[in-house]
Amino acid sequence: MKFYKAAVVGAGAMGSGIAQVLSQAGLQVVLKDIEASYVEKGLANIKRMYDSRVKKEVLTQAQADSHFAKIKGTTGFGGFNEVDLVIEAALEQIEVKLEVFQELDKVCPAHTILATNTSALSVSEIASATKRADKVVGMHFFNPAHVMKLVEVIPGVKTSEETVNAAIDLCRTMQKNPIKVEECPGFLVNRLLFPYLNEALYVLQEGRQTPESIDAAAVEFGLPMGPLTLLDMTGVDVCFHVNQFLSAQYGLRFKTSPLLQKLVDNRFLGQKSGAGIYLHSPGKIYAKDEKRELNPGLAGLLAEINPKIGSKTGSASNENVFDVHRIILPMFNEAIYALQEKVVAINDVDMAMADGIGLKRGLLSLAKENGLSYCYDKLSEFTRTHGERFHPAWYLGKLANAKIHDLSELN
Ligand code: 3HC
Repeated sequence: MKFYKAAVVGAGAMGSGIAQVLSQAGLQVVLKDIEASYVEKGLANIKRMYDSRVKKEVLTQAQADSHFAKIKGTTGFGGFNEVDLVIEAALEQIEVKLEVFQELDKVCPAHTILATNTSALSVSEIASATKRADKVVGMHFFNPAHVMKLVEVIPGVKTSEETVNAAIDLCRTMQKNPIKVEECPGFLVNRLLFPYLNEALYVLQEGRQTPESIDAAAVEFGLPMGPLTLLDMTGVDVCFHVNQFLSAQYGLRFKTSPLLQKLVDNRFLGQKSGAGIYLHSPGKIYAKDEKRELNPGLAGLLAEINPKIGSKTGSASNENVFDVHRIILPMFNEAIYALQEKVVAINDVDMAMADGIGLKRGLLSLAKENGLSYCYDKLSEFTRTHGERFHPAWYLGKLANAKIHDLSELN
């Protein structure tokens, strides 16, 4: 199927990034949000992306201007009667998604594919709000959507093969790397990412590490940015909603850290609100190695959770050497749970983590370097010392007991 005209619902960070990528791929785009100020902000964000493409000499000014001119902002549904595809990137709440899809089903032509950029919610449930469940599909992008290469393509129970193939083709037209993932809460990447993000907050609230020491350890391991920097970038509220959903679906492995709850309660929402774990100035994006200032409000939250640490934000020292496996193993363990459930193929895990969150060294290399039995034993030890969040996957125990050293032996 050839796509000529698309609409994006939601002009926030994800929606504007998706609109930029669609327009650069040659599609006409209608960008819709509920208020004119949100639409204007989204368009300004896209303009900045195009300016940057010109500065980086990826595009000429004339090309950038012509792509940008393909995007029309709106607060209504004008133009939706002509679109071949809609990508919804609205709030991550099921009631909102259901309402949006019910409306889209009414205003879009019968052939239009309706895609949701939901981070974790059920594509099948969202499709149930329409009379075209065969044409509803998950297309999950990663923040910043104009940069990260991965798009998870998730069929719901009624999605047709034709729709899935069309979504995969479109990803390729947008120069993205699609991966088909069986529907499960969090799909693949968020399902693996959230135990790691959540655990970083548990470590922080214990008071023996600073945000900087936790972030630095993750970067040292091979991630492009630390979990607490990523939390601020993704949005603390978004992470809270996703984690709450995953916790409701999967239980104790995803038990939300009290600190995540407190950050949301205090409106420390990260980059978008000016303060999360770190402080942020409006519109400013920290360079990779630039020193960040901590949010001064963080110390009070930590003291409320753990009065023993007083008003310090941790005191990393040589005695407190941080074992990065404390935050990486929950991610690895969840990958094994996903393999156990056959949600994804082994060879796709490292590719998805590389293109979705920039982990270049390969998550499954943890087993190659240390052995599956080390991973199992260490998770079991963390389960005893820190609780059920670390409960090792049954499949991991099975492989370790079968004396399989690492997963490549299964290929
Ligand atoms: N917020 C928004 N955009 C940012 C950013 C930030 N904090 N940091 C960097 N960027 C943008 C830059 O503006 C730049 O955009 P441009 O090309 O339009 O100018 C682009 O990223 C590249 O920036 P740099 O050239 O400075 O590149 P870096 O080498 O510093 O890489 C990065 C930046 C790509 C963000 C890299 O650090 C990275 O890959 N981080 C991991 C991101 C990640 O894990 N994303 C997934 C989050 S989870 C998710 O989205 C799922 C959702 O469902 C919750």
